[in-house]
Amino acid sequence: MEKKLIRAGIVGSGFAARFHYDALQHVFSTRVEVTGVYSVAEKELKEYTSLRNLKAVGTLDELIANADVVHVCTPPITHEPIVVAALKQDKHVIVEKPLTGYFGDGSEGFNGDNFSREEGLAHTLSSIERMLAAEKASKGKIMYAENWIYAPAIQKEREIIEKTKPQILWMHGEQSHSGSHSLAYGQWKYSGGGSMIGKGCHPLAVAIYFKHVEGRVRNGQPIRPKTISARTHAITRMPGYRNEGFLQTHYKDIEDFSLMHIEFEDGAIASLFASELVLGGVNNWIEINTSNHRTKCQMSHNDSMKTYTPDGQYYKDVYVVEKTETKQGWSFISPDEGWFHGYQHEMNAFYRTAAFGDPIESNSSLASDTIATIYAGYVSAERKGAAVPVSIL
Ligand SMILES: NC(=O)c1ccc[n+]([C@@H]2O[C@H](COP(=O)([O-])OP(=O)(O)OC[C@H]3O[C@@H](n4cnc5c(N)ncnc54)[C@H](O)[C@@H]3O)[C@@H](O)[C@H]2O)c1
Repeated sequence: MEKKLIRAGIVGSGFAARFHYDALQHVFSTRVEVTGVYSVAEKELKEYTSLRNLKAVGTLDELIANADVVHVCTPPITHEPIVVAALKQDKHVIVEKPLTGYFGDGSEGFNGDNFSREEGLAHTLSSIERMLAAEKASKGKIMYAENWIYAPAIQKEREIIEKTKPQILWMHGEQSHSGSHSLAYGQWKYSGGGSMIGKGCHPLAVAIYFKHVEGRVRNGQPIRPKTISARTHAITRMPGYRNEGFLQTHYKDIEDFSLMHIEFEDGAIASLFASELVLGGVNNWIEINTSNHRTKCQMSHNDSMKTYTPDGQYYKDVYVVEKTETKQGWSFISPDEGWFHGYQHEMNAFYRTAAFGDPIESNSSLASDTIATIYAGYVSAERKGAAVPVSIL
């Protein structure tokens, strides 16, 4: 039987647009035709489409009209309007992380170090509400592109939770590396925050997801986050910071370290780190301690393959692993990083939903809980770690 054809439209022509397109090449559940790409960066769009033999379209409306699934691969500040526009036309939308956020008041002098975190939280909650309302009114669905959810290690643990029905008691996890190269990343008005939102969103989404799964299998209801205590720090901006050149240091008004401590409705907890201060390649892991088992999910530093060279020059054309500072000596080379990180699996799952209506593991409820927790976390950090309630929308 011929596989069902689903039309894809990609918004954006940068980094995420590139890995979305690559991941689409691994979708086997259905046939995908990319009907158009739209981006505000004209030259970049031209390069992107000509390299892949795709059609550049002139407006967002035209892109949405000719797609069944719209990929939102644009900066976080643009997510809400693009998602709502696609849902209004009854299209599914795959939106990159973070779902939405607070990007300042638009004023020239806006400074991420000293605005009111409560105001940031209120703006973010309103944005989430508008997106959830648009989804409710649409035949389309929000698919939250949190690739960690679809990483094989995380999906294997989902199976274990579903079959052993444990109580998850506590979790700890991290995403850290030596810092983003993107200059836009260091400015709150573009990124909506620092390490806590940019990196912490990954382990946080997984911790919340596991409690959602646990609740669903035991009581038919997800267990949601209840409070967060958080600390944030700008370590590379400390007056006495000793710069030896290995870590990125261009951040203007965001944190480069965060610690989140979440308490769930049933009293279970998760402690999660995210930072720009870790050498040795991207550090992606989460450990789950439950009433009947303990699991460590390692999305990076896997030892399925290790390689050694006495001189990194030999590997100058070899991709080893994300954000490693040197290729000399032993490396935990990732034979297929996209696979370990779930990029291919998430795309295949989303297109199964679009073609056959499969339930979405990384859905708008997970996206909403994640981002509401993070902005409550910024309020907590402003209060030096006091517990702040998480709004459940
Ligand atoms: N899941 C992950 O691992 C991961 C990794 C990197 C980035 N991301 C996310 O992907 C998103 C995009 O990040 P990126 O690194 O690709 O950024 P980028 O700067 O490389 O690309 C952004 C693209 O969006 C386009 N754009 C900006 N505003 C637009 C608008 N209003 N309409 C249409 N196009 C517009 C730009 O022209 C550019 O092509 C962000 O939300 C980011 O957090 C996710």
